[in-house]
Amino acid sequence: MIKAKFHNILLIILGISLWSCKAKDEFQGLEYAPNMYHSVPYDGLSQITDEDQGKWLSNREDGLGEYYNTNPNNPYYMNMREPVANTVKRSENGYLPYRIHKDSAEYAGRVLINPIDPTTEILAEGKALYEVYCTTCHGEKGQGDGLVGKVFMGVPAYNLGRVKELPEGQIFHTITHGRGRMISHASQVSVDERWKITHYVRVLQNQN
Ligand code: HEC
Repeated sequence: MIKAKFHNILLIILGISLWSCKAKDEFQGLEYAPNMYHSVPYDGLSQITDEDQGKWLSNREDGLGEYYNTNPNNPYYMNMREPVANTVKRSENGYLPYRIHKDSAEYAGRVLINPIDPTTEILAEGKALYEVYCTTCHGEKGQGDGLVGKVFMGVPAYNLGRVKELPEGQIFHTITHGRGRMISHASQVSVDERWKITHYVRVLQNQN
């Protein structure tokens, strides 16, 4: 008899505990020690714009939710505020900063694709830029015989050996980071300009 009662009590406890785990709609079920699931620090990049998303609702009737990883002091509980009006993008064309390491030129050659179409105008622009920034060393036809190049010694010709085969991404990378005695030109020419120059260097690579 006593044993049966004990069983019933056990069943009721089991029932209640299972029932309390039930997840419904927004309510994800009762979490034991929620700090174990939700990290304490704010999630730095969460830029939510939906009020309910930013608030993890507890099952409290009063609607007072609990906040995990979101900042209740900001609109929509977002952590990263929206940039103020008229914020200027990091670069004019919206490109992300170039992050390929300077020692990874070959990798750049494998993954980067010139985003600009080589139209006649673009090629003309690339040529003009090349004449300003590169001819001094590389020479008008990319033979390494520019005025400075002659003194510099060892400026390679674009249309010979290894350099002839360089993919466009690697040329872009060389302009950005430099190579050996050639310094970086990133501060002189913008990302777009570098790609335009790259088109022209390809033309010079393919000459006989
Ligand atoms: C001050 C002289 C100088 C200027 C200016 C210069 N370069 Fe160079 N460039 C060099 C030298 C020297 C090398 C050979 C580097 C090495 O292999 O050590 C080189 C190598 C290169 C290479 C071959 C890279 C490789 O992997 O072998 C490319 C492509 C190149 N330059 C493109 C350019 C472009 C495009 C410009 C203009 C934006 C430019 N360079 C401006 C001196 C210069």
